Amino acid sequence: MGKLTYVKSASQLICMDGGLGPRTGRGMSMLGITANGSVVIEDGIIVFSGSDTLAEHYLSTRQDDVEIIDARGKVVTPGLIDPHTHIVFAGSRENELELRLQGAKYIDILKRGGGILNTARSTREASEEELVRQSKVRLDRFLLHGVTTIEAKSGYGLTVTDELKQLRAARALNDSHPIDVVSTFMGAHAVPEEYNNNPEGYVDLVINEMLPAVAEQELAEFCDVFCEQGVFSIAESRRILEAAGRLGFKLKIHADEIAENFGGAELAARLGAVSAEHLLKASEEGIQALAKSDTIAVLLPGTALFLMEQAAAARKMIAAGVAVALSTDCNPGSSPTVSMPFIMNAACLTMKMTPAEVLTASTINAAYAIGREKVMGSIEIGKQGDLVLFDADNYRQLQYYYGMNLVHTVIKKGQVVVK
Ligand code: NIG
Ligand code: FE
Repeated sequence: MGKLTYVKSASQLICMDGGLGPRTGRGMSMLGITANGSVVIEDGIIVFSGSDTLAEHYLSTRQDDVEIIDARGKVVTPGLIDPHTHIVFAGSRENELELRLQGAKYIDILKRGGGILNTARSTREASEEELVRQSKVRLDRFLLHGVTTIEAKSGYGLTVTDELKQLRAARALNDSHPIDVVSTFMGAHAVPEEYNNNPEGYVDLVINEMLPAVAEQELAEFCDVFCEQGVFSIAESRRILEAAGRLGFKLKIHADEIAENFGGAELAARLGAVSAEHLLKASEEGIQALAKSDTIAVLLPGTALFLMEQAAAARKMIAAGVAVALSTDCNPGSSPTVSMPFIMNAACLTMKMTPAEVLTASTINAAYAIGREKVMGSIEIGKQGDLVLFDADNYRQLQYYYGMNLVHTVIKKGQVVVK
């Protein structure tokens, strides 16, 4: 006899079930809603989802201990998934917000040795234990905001030793925290100062030393590159990502964040990347290329807001048939937030995504963006029992009441982790 977790009588159970592949177009509005719905979880896995009446019938066939979680008056969704973060770092950069408010540009702060390079200095100085300690605070806060899985990128070490240290810290967090942490190697996040006069030498270091070491120690599933004017060119990004592909990494690209028409989206589609991320300045051709590919657009409206830039053209992408996911981009420079609920509000208000599209983008499409669609992202039998109970009568209220955290209870693999 096992123990069952019975989430009972949600006002709306948002299942996101039934689709094949990442959701596109009108598919992004199909939520699979059950009114007065229940979920049963056994050993961390969903064993039932459906109407209250059917749940009672299902449970009458079982002789197990049942922990009942009353979901009356709540909207229940799959655990939120954040497919793009840089949470493992030390220090903070509140001074840069004020510089930018006075007119300094994000990329110029980086060129002057601040920005990513500032965080690289504090991250290099921190021990692995200190990195875990500082990053755990952020993970705890993610959980309070309904996030049950995140992706985490390296890229603040920028030496072989420090990149490996950052990735080991991410693994330690995955092993010790309820949140699942999916790791991405992003040694190509910036050219460190010691390579100022030899940027190609740094690309060689990433390809010849970092990538093989990360692969050998199995410290990351994905490889990402900051493909941007003044950071890594299209040709350099391509070299790094092709090398990563040969070693078995799945690919992601920070694409078209700052410069107009740089070609990042086109490169992502051409390389068969799992995702192209940011896309604020993606060209028409780039959007069309994504639409024809299996690459998912991970949009980060909080970053656009925090950099005081126009958000990505989500409506154009959805109309073109691109699968869209959402993320916080949690990092110390361009988006110091852990609030997926706020990002979802921002997606609605700054990119005109509908409340239904926003939910799809933060659950099932986000699962596809990190290669976890078989185990999470929807409430379906056989998937992980990761759920959020929101204090709301219906899912549309999640975007109507904005800037508030309506998360009431969070369940990870069947365990109540926030109440
Ligand atoms: O996604 N653009 C590059 N990387 C991050 C910012 C990192 C930082 O500023 O520390 C981003 O915006
Ligand atoms: Fe980022």
